[in-house]
Amino acid sequence: MTKQEFLNRYLVERKGTDSLKWDALDERFGQDDLLAMWVADMEFKTCDSITEALKRRVEHGVYGYSRASDAYYQAYADWMERRHHCETDRSWIRFASGCVAAITYVIQVFTQPGDSCLILTPVYYPFHNAVKDNGRRLVCVDLDAKDGRFTMNYEAIEKAIVENHVKLFLLCSPHNPAGRVWSEEELDQVLAVCCRHDVLVCSDEIHQDFTFDGNNFVPALMVGGGKYRDRLITVNSASKTFNLASLLHAQLIISDERLRATYDREIRGRNQTELSIMGLTAAQAGYEGGEEWLEALKEVIWDNYQYLKTELGRKLPKAVVYSMEGTYLPLVDLRAYVDSGGMKSFIQGKCRLAVDYGEWFGKNFRGFVRLNMATDPSLVREAVGRITLV
Ligand SMILES: Cc1ncc(COP(=O)(O)O)c(C=O)c1O
Repeated sequence: MTKQEFLNRYLVERKGTDSLKWDALDERFGQDDLLAMWVADMEFKTCDSITEALKRRVEHGVYGYSRASDAYYQAYADWMERRHHCETDRSWIRFASGCVAAITYVIQVFTQPGDSCLILTPVYYPFHNAVKDNGRRLVCVDLDAKDGRFTMNYEAIEKAIVENHVKLFLLCSPHNPAGRVWSEEELDQVLAVCCRHDVLVCSDEIHQDFTFDGNNFVPALMVGGGKYRDRLITVNSASKTFNLASLLHAQLIISDERLRATYDREIRGRNQTELSIMGLTAAQAGYEGGEEWLEALKEVIWDNYQYLKTELGRKLPKAVVYSMEGTYLPLVDLRAYVDSGGMKSFIQGKCRLAVDYGEWFGKNFRGFVRLNMATDPSLVREAVGRITLV
């Protein structure tokens, strides 16, 4: 499918459909006249295999209690093996209503109130909230930013772990909003630090299927031939890949028997939710038949990002468009043009854009904005045009 065919078939109007992105602007930004470039979902209908599978469910008309079928587990295992060279076993899988819920369970099950949890900022803001809202101590280490690319500072990470007696590290891989697809070597280094200090790792890999420009996603499970599995819980889902956030389905992958036993024992008092049949059905159908759709979508995203980078580079050469090796959510540093205290009035008042502000992801990132590239190319052009009028 060409990029144009993809746009003709899947681009859709979301305003007036109770979408958070477009219909909650007033609630979230205090203005409803904004062009929505925030929040991580898309203006595209999901793939046909998912739509067809959901229609069959609707026609059956029963939404009673459900289970994950053999076919579900097979579809997930095949996807992980085919696309990420990662063998999984169905006995390792547990379910949650979302990746953030899954992270919350990991925090609750494996740490105590007052324990320190580490995040690498800037990072997806629900990581911050999940730690703080559960009465744990948040320890932030900034990623190093150089020449439009973020890297991990292992020394600072180790120092923070030791000084704060960190118990849990919430890794984001690929990293939202740093846009990095961590290499196996980088992952090996940070996981080795965790290993030295007995830190459990929760790796959120929800963006695993969005990698660009030859970058290769390595599941934490596979790093060093699997040598960190005894301290690792992976969280992922089909919900970013196929735009299914509202179907409320995600999984935890716990390959270590001891961790799994603890999780199973402790989760009972915290989560008694049954599975979402629509979430299961959609994820399975995406894994089975969504590959062509995903590849065409990635072309749209990558072209949007190239446009953003080229146009801003031409018109605002001092703006830093960070590398987008993965995710569809690049960060742009506008501090050379806009005083960070005036960013909101520039972005909302002058450009009339809704974006995710840098300080939402980390206190030192005021003056950055995160823009969503999984959208109509004409909206990206419009947004970039508004920003370049600075
Ligand atoms: C890194 C990361 N984790 C989790 C989520 C949300 O996952 P869920 O909707 O399944 O809770 C997002 C959404 O943007 C994300 O970027």
